[in-house]
Amino acid sequence: MIKVLQNHSLKKLNTFGVDVIARYLVEINSADDLKELFANSKWKEMDRLVLGGGSNILFTKDFEGLIIKINIDGLKHEVKNDEVYITAGGGIVWNDLVNYCVERGFAGTENLSLIPGSVGASPIQNIGAYGVELKDIFYSCKAFEIETGNMLEFSNADCAFGYRDSIFKNRLKGKVIITEVTYKLSTHPNLNTNYGAIQQELHKRGIIQPNIKDISTIVSEIRVNKLPDPSTIGNAGSFFKNPIIMVDKFRHLQSTFPDIVHFSVGNGLEKIAAGWLIEKCGWKGKKMGETGTWKNQALVLVNYGNATGSDIYSFSSHIIADVKNTFDIELEREVNII
Ligand code: EPU
Repeated sequence: MIKVLQNHSLKKLNTFGVDVIARYLVEINSADDLKELFANSKWKEMDRLVLGGGSNILFTKDFEGLIIKINIDGLKHEVKNDEVYITAGGGIVWNDLVNYCVERGFAGTENLSLIPGSVGASPIQNIGAYGVELKDIFYSCKAFEIETGNMLEFSNADCAFGYRDSIFKNRLKGKVIITEVTYKLSTHPNLNTNYGAIQQELHKRGIIQPNIKDISTIVSEIRVNKLPDPSTIGNAGSFFKNPIIMVDKFRHLQSTFPDIVHFSVGNGLEKIAAGWLIEKCGWKGKKMGETGTWKNQALVLVNYGNATGSDIYSFSSHIIADVKNTFDIELEREVNII
């Protein structure tokens, strides 16, 4: 039986810790709850927002519609030869899933340790870190289609994954709600240790043949050292995407800024470290009232306590303008602005 609450604070439901009010809020524990909710056409017509861990969102004002908080649980696995299929409810905390896999020696999620957020949100922005993206381990997901009330299933190819992007951010935005995800992992570790920061840590610790647990521990420690913990300092991870520019433009920039941090992504394109661009413009660790960029990672914007969503938003606009002026690169926000 679902219960729609009214005028509910969202402060604890977004990792920026911004205090805004939702006109309506409902907690969903199963796909059947969604059926029950949308049997009432009032909710189909209203402005809606689906929340997982609330870790990739910035509320700049009260939300006048319905917030749907996904709490669907369940976590199980099935081993088939060398493959393991892990099926998790959309409300499972992402890192609980990672721990479940690491403890059992199932390989594939370890580089994605400690990413905040939920299983249901993981495909939407194709979460990624330290050389691995969700698309590398995503097998399928189930989603509730709001218009028809049907359950749909999506394969990896159906999701049209891109850099922090998928069909759920584009064509299907607002149309479906992910209820369950199946990941395809391996019982044989095929570790990805290419990322510079991982290699440095392995070297420092004298680990020559790392196992899954080593990678998970190292990634967790790198994150803890570099990124603020949202339970004490509000933040939503990287606030901007790393911009991708044409290689010609990159070469031109490189002649002026030889230390520019970049990665080739093929097809005549170059990905630039947004953190570097922001730092180079003098914004790293800068504070403005209750907001600022994190001292160890300029790509992360933080709420020191009482920042409003619009404080953080306008701070981000200053950064965008400055980066544009200096490098002629337009930073794009990765966080969803509401
Ligand atoms: N850098 C700076 N100054 C900074 C930050 C970074 O110069 O203040 C340069 C450094 O040279 C560093 C390089 O940028 O080596 C890359 O930095 P980092 O390894 O921290 O990664 P990132 O590109 O800034 C991306 C993801 C993160 C993910 C890390 C690790 C995006 C938008 N962000 O950040 O994802 O954890 O790689 O793989 O792609 C997130 O999406 O919320 C997120 C945290």
